Amino acid sequence: MKSILENRPELEKIIREIAEVAGYLWQKGWAERNGGNITVNITDIVDDEIRTLKAIENPVPAGRTMPHLKGCYFFCKGTNRRMRDLARYPMQNGSIVRITDDCQAYEIIADEPVKPTSEIASHLSIHNHLIKKGSDYKAVVHTHPIDLIAMSHNSAFLEKDKLTYLLWSMIPETRAFCPRGLGIIPYQLPSSFDLADATLKELDAYDVVMWEKHGVLSVAQNVMEAFDQIDVLSKSAQIYLTAKSMGFEPKGLSTEQMNELRDAFGLAK
Ligand code: 13P
Ligand code: ZN
Repeated sequence: MKSILENRPELEKIIREIAEVAGYLWQKGWAERNGGNITVNITDIVDDEIRTLKAIENPVPAGRTMPHLKGCYFFCKGTNRRMRDLARYPMQNGSIVRITDDCQAYEIIADEPVKPTSEIASHLSIHNHLIKKGSDYKAVVHTHPIDLIAMSHNSAFLEKDKLTYLLWSMIPETRAFCPRGLGIIPYQLPSSFDLADATLKELDAYDVVMWEKHGVLSVAQNVMEAFDQIDVLSKSAQIYLTAKSMGFEPKGLSTEQMNELRDAFGLAK
């Protein structure tokens, strides 16, 4: 069967990058079984031939109208599919979907009828919101990092910006490469619109959010940057937990040192 990637180097590059990140998520131990999901808005590189492709499955209602997704196309990880399989065979463990003209449903157009992630409510709501805001972010990555989830089981860390400052203070990289910090979303049922809506609200202030006792979600221009933000936060969490397991409370960078970093890197106040 002919793949939609054939003779489309730009699209192939994006799918290759998604596969690479899926492999990292598995290697990190963040992607048990089918844990986590990735979607990428590929609308900018869709050509006329793709626009005329017939759907290979009936449209699936999205559960709400998302007016800013008119004419949009996404790569979506398949529900119940493993990241480690996506890493090797991205087009057999994910699919390309088109939003229908009424902006109320999506339909799979390639390569195979792989049903999109159960977190599609959050992913599509986020893409809709990003476009509405005029953002150039295209990638949404959700994953289950052990260290960060463990910290979310302690209510002391769930206070607004408590984790942000703690994690920023563990290593300069985290302050520099996750400059908007980590938003916190109290536990909500996975796959629900309540979770989607709570996420949207936090994404106005943060590029990475914690879904309490579940995982994190990151948005960025591309899938690699979305991964990097989670990676630096997780590194900080590991430094914190390693110090604690050695029997002491890590001192952390001082506020002055973090402010110095902020100014040196030209980060927003
Ligand atoms: P999916 O397999 O449906 O993508 O679900 C994984 C997950 O992490 C749900 O939150
Ligand atoms: Zn999850």
